Amino acid sequence: MRDILPPESDRWRAFVSVFAETVEAAGYGNLATPLMEDAGVFSRVGEATDIVQKEMYRFTDNGGRDVALRPEFTASICRAFVEHRPSTPWKVWTSGSNFRYERPQRGRYRQFDQVDIEVVGSDDPLVDVEVIALGWRFLERLGLRQVTLLLNSLGDTAERATYVDALRTYFEANLDALSAQSRETLARNPLRVLDSKREQDAPFTAAAPTIAEFYGADSGAHFETVRAGLDRLGIPYTIAPGLVRGLDYYVRTTFEFAGGTLDSAQNALGGGGRYDGLVEALGGPPTAAIGFALGVDRTLIACDDESVFAAPDSAVDVFVVDTTGGLEALVITEELRRAGLRADRAFDNRSMKSQMKAADRSGALYAVIIGETERDAGTATLRPLRGEGEQVVVPRAEVVATVTAATGG
Ligand code: HAM
Repeated sequence: MRDILPPESDRWRAFVSVFAETVEAAGYGNLATPLMEDAGVFSRVGEATDIVQKEMYRFTDNGGRDVALRPEFTASICRAFVEHRPSTPWKVWTSGSNFRYERPQRGRYRQFDQVDIEVVGSDDPLVDVEVIALGWRFLERLGLRQVTLLLNSLGDTAERATYVDALRTYFEANLDALSAQSRETLARNPLRVLDSKREQDAPFTAAAPTIAEFYGADSGAHFETVRAGLDRLGIPYTIAPGLVRGLDYYVRTTFEFAGGTLDSAQNALGGGGRYDGLVEALGGPPTAAIGFALGVDRTLIACDDESVFAAPDSAVDVFVVDTTGGLEALVITEELRRAGLRADRAFDNRSMKSQMKAADRSGALYAVIIGETERDAGTATLRPLRGEGEQVVVPRAEVVATVTAATGG
């Protein structure tokens, strides 16, 4: 868990704003769910997953309830859907921190932030296309170029189950040759063995049966429409038959945005897919749904690697230097701020030289200077700190108007 200091924290906020603009322009409303819920809500993401088995911050509260900090948003959003029964399709977005007890390293933290959209209540493959396209366009808007969209379909619930059985049979036939970790994974979830990055497993994962052999007519057609939609929008993708994702609720379309500059273990900037059975598992009616989450921490690392989406300019417009005790600066900064300007000042009655240094560091375009001369004459000196321009002396009453005009306000 980390502190995020300014100006990096300003960058995080800007990131969420750009995401909000992107998805709100497509009709998604903002949803806020609790940071902590009944642990049962999150177990529905898959009892066999690492997230539920090993990574949940789960404890008994003072009232004896079994609760957990959210490890992701999707289960909470489905729980909220079941509780409030909004009209469908329900298009929502959210952002904030999630918690997983993972081994921390670059791009992997125990508290991390996500931005997320979900569409609940439609199985139209063109919804899949909209959701994927919004993720793609957002990453484009950040300026990222080295991103690959990986796309797969896991088939419907029954096809997925048949495929899992076929994989189990196949891997069991090669059990002795698999790595110890993969043998353990196999016992819990044969699909996840496909995720193995170990060299020892590579020949077997490469030759394993693929899900495409198991698609029925419906899921085959669904996947085809998703691909056709992405083609029409000119969004490039790579079919990745091994893309199984780390959560058990996925069926049909699954996808990931892989960053080109990150280590392969941490290269997923985000991902998502359909989870047509999750609402029902949480006590609602059978409901199709799809969404994705992007990791803020990791996507910003990718932005650093590609030198895009820098921290926004946090400079103030004007800095007030007052060597007469500080009360004049108090009043003038207040007037400037009320006029809508970003204004700062020095404290502790520093020397002129020290205050001018602070003015320079603040990034301000202008300094308003009040010394004894100005105070006695009822004036202020306005000095440009950046670029060309002459210093001027203005009547005290005209400071705000002059600074406003000078900064183009
Ligand atoms: P996920 O793949 O577990 O999916 O997480 C999505 C993204 O969150 C990852 O690609 C990564 O960028 C970021 N992330 C996950 N864990 C960490 C961590 N420990 N440290 C830093 N970043 C991390 C989900 O969470 C699904 N709920 C996505 C979804 C939404 N599927 C359908 N709707």
